[in-house]
Amino acid sequence: MAMRKTNILDLGRMKAERARIVMITAYDALFSRIFDEAGVDVILVGDSLGQVVLGYPDTLGVTMEDMVRHTEAAARGRKRAFLVADMPFLSYQASPSEAVRNAGRLLRAGAEAVKLEGGRNAAGTIRAIASADIPVMGHIGLTPQSVHRMGGYRVQGRTDLQRERLQDDAAAVQEAGAFSVVLEGMPAALAAEITRGLSIPTIGIGAGAGCDGQVLVMQDLLGLLDDFRPKFVRRFGELRKPVEDAVAAYVEAVRDGSFPGKEHSF
Ligand code: KIV
Repeated sequence: MAMRKTNILDLGRMKAERARIVMITAYDALFSRIFDEAGVDVILVGDSLGQVVLGYPDTLGVTMEDMVRHTEAAARGRKRAFLVADMPFLSYQASPSEAVRNAGRLLRAGAEAVKLEGGRNAAGTIRAIASADIPVMGHIGLTPQSVHRMGGYRVQGRTDLQRERLQDDAAAVQEAGAFSVVLEGMPAALAAEITRGLSIPTIGIGAGAGCDGQVLVMQDLLGLLDDFRPKFVRRFGELRKPVEDAVAAYVEAVRDGSFPGKEHSF
């Protein structure tokens, strides 16, 4: 049965009805299609692309060209899920007008909304993009593009001052016109409190079960990475080993001459 396309109104409705929103990252047409068919609500072309696809140490090297190319690919793969694309580092910080133009490029690439990092400091930028009728998802808490300011990837909101700041950031992002906000790397109780205080849906990652939805990076939840096992990830699959085993079997078969066989030959 063909399912109806998910839109921005559905996501707001899901918060009202307490139906949890499921978001996952994808960076190409193949996985975007698989995740769409598996029933996720939202596909995020995250700038985590930098680490999990392009091999960078962080997200800071990701460019608009990277994001446009991968957003186009992910858009071609999905039919039903709502598609959000991350605005990469330096595509929205310099000026609101540059931010609007770059957000527009991501919509032209097939995204239905953009996501950018920042709280009250980003409110003017969120307002400018939303005023151009481009839906914006905020992202507060542990914001990977601020890795050097944070002194590493650290859980945020552990002190009273940080908690107050994050409450204020969440309110500012909503007030500026964001339709949703990612809460990353913060205590579960704080994320739940923020979620209760907002009318827009929150999507958590490392922020506990009290958010309106959850997001994970696909390579993390599929168990494709050997060396990255943070506390907040559940590995719903262990795909690294079968992939490695399959390729090792291929290597052996080519080397010992058992592949290709007669059945693979013309
Ligand atoms: O880039 C990304 O994948 C993200 C999610 C982790 C929220 O921003």
